[in-house]
Amino acid sequence: MKKIIITLDGYSSCGKSTLARQLANELNYVFIDSGAMYRAITLYFLRQHVDWSDAKKIHKALGEISLDFQYNEATGQSDMFLNDENVEALIRDMLVSERVSEISALKEVREFGVAQQQQMGKMKGIVMDGRDIGTTVFPEAELKIFVTADPAVRVERRFKELFQKNPNITIKEVQDNLEMRDYIDSNREFSPLRKAKDAVELDNSNMTKEEQLSIALEWAREKMA
Ligand code: DC
Repeated sequence: MKKIIITLDGYSSCGKSTLARQLANELNYVFIDSGAMYRAITLYFLRQHVDWSDAKKIHKALGEISLDFQYNEATGQSDMFLNDENVEALIRDMLVSERVSEISALKEVREFGVAQQQQMGKMKGIVMDGRDIGTTVFPEAELKIFVTADPAVRVERRFKELFQKNPNITIKEVQDNLEMRDYIDSNREFSPLRKAKDAVELDNSNMTKEEQLSIALEWAREKMA
């Protein structure tokens, strides 16, 4: 079977990462959560109080950032490391979610992220999820999946996930954040969220994780044959 590149793009919280991780496990491929990279960059910018209205300051800050995924034996998943610090939990915080769309829309940040992601896909055998993976990062990918889910389902899923860590969070906060990110991610100038022309759409609003995996696996095996 030949090694391919699989991309999963779509709006926030529609289950892309879950499906991408499952696919990578089944196929023995590398899973890359590109959103985690933009979240780690955002965390760095917030911590260092980087003035992102100034291109020179953005360049300088990006030059200080090293991103790396490291396998976590306890969870069986890869954690995001920012300059050798495990930031996997920190980058999921609302403070990061509130700023990540703004920072990931910056031209310099996109160039930085896209270049690193393209490097990771050189050997193929990779599943990457994000917003612009099938359109900008790997326009030649063999399998492109555009994942969608009903907005109310997405809000509920995200709320359940965040509520476990922060019982003070409200549905309204989660909904506002998703709407804001979807808007910025789809309307930004560089690499906006778009369904690639050759992408297949998967609406998982009423599907179990097993059902969506079995559909995606079938698509993947067709392309790998
Ligand atoms: O997948 P996520 O929700 O963790 O991504 C966080 C943010 O990062 C998302 O709101 C937009 C940005 N992002 C992006 O611009 N391009 C990507 N390929 C992945 C994420």
